[in-house]
Amino acid sequence: MTLRDTGCPARRDGREEYDVVVRGGDVVLPDRVARCDIAIRYGVIADVVEVAAKTGAGGHLADAAGRVIDATGCVVLPGLIDPHTHMGIPIKDATSADDFTTGSLAAAFGGVTTILDFTVQESGQSLREALDVRLGLAGGRCHVDYGVHNNVTDHSVFARGQIIGPSADPIGDLIDEGFDSFKVFTTYREAGMMSSWDQLRAVLGPIAAHGGVLMVHAEDDGILAAAGAMHRDDDHRAAIFHARSRPARAEAEAIRRVASLAGECDAALYIVHLSSELGLHAGLEARRRGVRVHLETCPHYLVLDESAYRREDGHLYITTPPLRRPDSCAALWQAVRDGDIDTIGTDHCPFTRAQKAGGDGAYWNTPNGLPGVEDRLALLYTYGVAEGRIDLVRLADLLARNPARIFGIDDRKGAIRVGHDGDLVVWDPRVERVAGPGHGSADWSPYQGMRLVGQVTHTLLRGRVLVEGERFVGGPPGGKLVRARR
Ligand code: URP
Ligand code: ZN
Ligand code: ZN
Repeated sequence: MTLRDTGCPARRDGREEYDVVVRGGDVVLPDRVARCDIAIRYGVIADVVEVAAKTGAGGHLADAAGRVIDATGCVVLPGLIDPHTHMGIPIKDATSADDFTTGSLAAAFGGVTTILDFTVQESGQSLREALDVRLGLAGGRCHVDYGVHNNVTDHSVFARGQIIGPSADPIGDLIDEGFDSFKVFTTYREAGMMSSWDQLRAVLGPIAAHGGVLMVHAEDDGILAAAGAMHRDDDHRAAIFHARSRPARAEAEAIRRVASLAGECDAALYIVHLSSELGLHAGLEARRRGVRVHLETCPHYLVLDESAYRREDGHLYITTPPLRRPDSCAALWQAVRDGDIDTIGTDHCPFTRAQKAGGDGAYWNTPNGLPGVEDRLALLYTYGVAEGRIDLVRLADLLARNPARIFGIDDRKGAIRVGHDGDLVVWDPRVERVAGPGHGSADWSPYQGMRLVGQVTHTLLRGRVLVEGERFVGGPPGGKLVRARR
């Protein structure tokens, strides 16, 4: 059966009809898994032909291919989208260890073909200028395609007008250009990144009016300040007090408040790195009231818990929000299973052991963040699919299709469909292995030593093979900027 009936491919001028054909894999289509051949021409999926599972009958695409990748016995997923990475950002006295080049290389090894990163808005800098700086850092340096969310951390520029390119409607202008997501923080006051509720309300209006998305790091700063005051002295330096100083009720309270504001404006909300059962309930409650709220969690909130902070090297695991108790992991897994969680981003923000040690044992001085972009698929396959919690279609929804839809790139990305970019990941579920430190710049991984089922055998970006087995074969960085469709 041909999913788009193009007939038998003819050769053009003696050249192959297709640049590459991925043959005979169990292909994760938007609604089911089917044994298919997938042909890519000029970087775009040109044909998807279902082949008989036993005989292979029906598969003729490979005859007209410049290159054939045999995916027999493997699962073929759409190239994955990580909607939440932080390449080379300043946190405390450190800079996250991966830049766009090293981080995107690690991403490719994890089957990720698009990352969505964030601007860093310096004080006094317009959103436009912050975006230009970030695009300058990513351009020509990223091995996978990339998009950028706009961080909004200095609201004074709205009052004073934009520093670069004065505009009456800076948010609307960016949305019109395909940069339609904006992120605010309800905490990080000390770092000068926090938005007040009034500032947040002010940006929600134009975001809603232009059909953008407000992304929120949701932890109520007042609750954190009170909890932090009790856990920030020489007796409370250890990593476990990072968790105690950032209780889950702070997440729930911030979600309730921001959802109520978003509901008033009918704005789309995206809660990043949802970490707790309480936060989950707040998000679901808002959704029941009709607020358009998307929920993202991260692999570390599913497969790790706060007991990591009691390890000798517990400070390595400091990330914000903190790892939670095991019952939160179970509740988040249930939500993943039920379809209540929309996406799994990684919040990839690695620091080396030396950088983490720079905090001198005090949790509040330790740069916060964890790597994850490379391990996300393996973790979700191992602890999700192989353990029977989710099926392959849901896996692809969480890691590709939903982020593409929410961030407006689903006309090109996120699904295996004719006309979409030839972004594919071939996954061999027969491999069993133990997680290592990975290919990024951090010299450790929070998942190191964990049992993993499955391995990427090939990652293709717009038809170009980036990863083949253990090797990176993608050549110089060729990732392109992706904008939301207008
Ligand atoms: O601790 C974390 N998650 N670091 C990255 C910045 C953020 O808050 O997402
Ligand atoms: Zn955050
Ligand atoms: Zn983040």
